Amino acid sequence: MSERSKTQTFLRIRWGRWLAASSLLIGALLYLYYLYPQQGTGPRQPIYFSHRVHAGVKQINCRFCHPFVDRSRNAGIPAVEKCFFCHEYIIPQHPQIVKEREHYESNTPVPWVQVYYVPDYVKFNHQPHILWGRLDCTNCHGPVQNMDRLQPVEFQMGFCIDCHQQKNAQIDCWLACHH
Ligand code: HEC
Ligand code: HEC
Ligand code: HEC
Ligand code: HEC
Repeated sequence: MSERSKTQTFLRIRWGRWLAASSLLIGALLYLYYLYPQQGTGPRQPIYFSHRVHAGVKQINCRFCHPFVDRSRNAGIPAVEKCFFCHEYIIPQHPQIVKEREHYESNTPVPWVQVYYVPDYVKFNHQPHILWGRLDCTNCHGPVQNMDRLQPVEFQMGFCIDCHQQKNAQIDCWLACHH
């Protein structure tokens, strides 16, 4: 074999391996994509709950599911019962709803993964923001109604201060916001 055809064979083998490896990789990605269609946004939730479907497409009001937002510190995550308000009748055979029903019947809350955080030393209260500040949920949480899975955010202090300055809310934060 001449030097040149040796190199060619070598290149062909390398090329072949590369192709094989990359098609394996693409195959694996496609497989994962179909297996976990919501992968790649926020943390995976125990039930594939989609804000896009509920708050976006079906236009269910945020407060139907998060009713305490103008009355307390926390907006509240809906209890399982609330899902069956609708899912008793709507797609009750859907595998995710069947899973939800197991929680309902065994009276165990769904262990939803928390997505939005403030550092431990910050106390945040929804009430003044919604009642007096008249802010929209999207001001802080982004376009939740377009997201299948919520993207995690840790709110840093700059986030609070910037908006407080813009809106002339108090920035005397050391007393008001920290424990
Ligand atoms: C001024 C910013 C701001 C606005 C406006 C806001 N949120 Fe929040 N929200 C936060 C922050 C900060 C946290 C994290 C709080 C924590 O970790 O203690 C949070 C957490 C939450 C949580 C999870 C924890 C909980 O409170 O139960 C829900 C649900 C929520 N928000 C819903 C809403 C809804 C619905 C609206 C609109 C009606 C809204 N938020 C408006 C800043 C905001
Ligand atoms: C006010 C009514 C209502 C409530 C409350 C409700 N849903 Fe739904 N949900 C719907 C509707 C409508 C659909 C769309 C059904 C369809 O596509 O035919 C849906 C679809 C779904 C789907 C399938 C999503 C998809 O990919 O198509 C899941 C899973 C689901 N809901 C879970 C939940 C969970 C979990 C809760 C409770 C936290 C809940 N839902 C509360 C009305 C509701
Ligand atoms: C049908 C019920 C339903 C509706 C309507 C709904 N949510 Fe939720 N929301 C949930 C459930 C269930 C969770 C917990 C699972 C998750 O994080 O996706 C949640 C979680 C959240 C969280 C994150 C809480 C955390 O873990 O930190 C925020 C913020 C939030 N919702 C805001 C909104 C906003 C804003 C709207 C309106 C645009 C809205 N939600 C409409 C059911 C609902
Ligand atoms: C998008 C704008 C915005 C963001 C972000 C924001 N705030 Fe506010 N905040 C306001 C407005 C507006 C008010 C209401 C001021 C009023 O009219 O009393 C308010 C009120 C408050 C109050 C009550 C003050 C009082 O007068 O009693 C506290 C405490 C507070 N915010 C803390 C925080 C913290 C902590 C964060 C960050 C995690 C934060 N805020 C993020 C706009 C914002």
